Amino acid sequence: MGKWIRIAEARLSQSVGPEKEIRGWIRTRRDSKGGFSFLEINDGSCFGNLQVVAPAELENYAEEIQKLSAGCSVVVTGELLESPAKGQATELHASEVRVIGWADPETYPLQKKRHTFEKLREWAHLRPRTNTFGAVARVRHQVSQSIHQFFSEQGFYYCHTPVITASDCEGAGEMFRVTTIDLDGLAARGGKVDYKFDFFEKPAFLTVSGQLEAEIYATSMGRVYTFGPTFRAENSNTSRHLAEFWMVEPEAAFFDLADNMRLSEDFLKRVFKDCLDHCSEDMDFFDQRIEKGKVSQLQAVVEKPFTHLTYTEAIKILESCNESFEYSISWGTDLQAEHERYLTEKYVDGPVILTDYPSSIKPFYMRISDDGRTVAAMDVLVPGVGEIIGGSQREERLDVLQNRMQQAGLDESEYWWYVDLRRYGTVPHAGFGLGLERAVQYVTGMANIRDVIPFPRTPGNAEF
Ligand code: 4AD
Ligand code: MG
Repeated sequence: MGKWIRIAEARLSQSVGPEKEIRGWIRTRRDSKGGFSFLEINDGSCFGNLQVVAPAELENYAEEIQKLSAGCSVVVTGELLESPAKGQATELHASEVRVIGWADPETYPLQKKRHTFEKLREWAHLRPRTNTFGAVARVRHQVSQSIHQFFSEQGFYYCHTPVITASDCEGAGEMFRVTTIDLDGLAARGGKVDYKFDFFEKPAFLTVSGQLEAEIYATSMGRVYTFGPTFRAENSNTSRHLAEFWMVEPEAAFFDLADNMRLSEDFLKRVFKDCLDHCSEDMDFFDQRIEKGKVSQLQAVVEKPFTHLTYTEAIKILESCNESFEYSISWGTDLQAEHERYLTEKYVDGPVILTDYPSSIKPFYMRISDDGRTVAAMDVLVPGVGEIIGGSQREERLDVLQNRMQQAGLDESEYWWYVDLRRYGTVPHAGFGLGLERAVQYVTGMANIRDVIPFPRTPGNAEF
């Protein structure tokens, strides 16, 4: 019985030697006139395949090996040798090819022909077997690992905030309701909903952000981060919006906006650098096939300081540039994707941290600045994607927060615990949220956010 190794390991020439076993899926089979077949196998551990040389002497050669096609699963035992051919360090000379599962070439969707990403979305159960989606999945893994490593190294504790909540953190009213009320029965009886009889005895929703709860732990533990699924029922069918996405939200006590900006920049640079360092084969693929120049672009981003602009400065730039925007822009209006893209792609050609937005377009928890009309907000914008981070210093002054909540029409009694944090040992504090998928989009250059999450949830789509 050979030692089981994965292809990522087998492809290093150091691992040559007798009796190795590889388990994976056939990508292609090529029969040679010389009395053997070449099998390209991939086990998902890395971008490249392993070439298996299967000689005609194998007992199942005619019966099975010559019938192998894309998608079949196999376990191959053999000797791993340095490959004489270019393109791979090693190849496996099979002493046994065991077929585990067949894949009918008449019906298996992933044939050699190229499929569009739209088509592959319909086969989300098979698309991770393609080069692109395997590479996306590995980069997504790396980004997630880097997130944990970076914050842990910076002294942030990982804190689990609830998925089910009664509060609307962003105040945008884009929440999915969670209920055990028998809606069909209720409708049939023409009844009115009484949430007293619902599971939580009040209206409950899927969270749009773990920030408010993260603030609780930050004002006890100093530095925490939460990282989990987040839900928004915004009916926007764009290439940057999902109804279910993953967000990492660090929150730090005794942090102001400048600390927060520094943290976000160090954090993004670390994530990008890790992808370049640890996913070089996948990144080369994105660089060559998805977005030309991606690798050198990311290298430059890692080395150069981010550009800082205030919202007011950005508005002046947008008002005086000669671009024709679909949405008009003036002080007090929110930036649209086209404005964000102009700033990052044409004005700066790199990431931009935009700060000090008007209070009227930002949520109640952001700290009011001395001018009385802006808040200590910061968004990080990047070329191609636009906003990837949204954050702020939080309002730590009890009376100012109470006023702000009243203006926003929030019932203070429902946020009593949030207000209490300002009553007992309040401190300046700040944090931000990074959308994991937007970060993966930026790193890989993938145009549509539906292609950087395994199973996208968007309006009208919850398949798989
Ligand atoms: O800017 P947002 O709404 O900020 C918050 O939720 C804050 N509570 C974060 C904080 O300060 N702790 O969202 C943060 C990020 C956005 O910049 C974007 O990257 C991502 O979350 N995001 C989405 N990603 C995919 N689909 C959506 N519908 C998204 N909405 C936000
Ligand atoms: Mg935002």
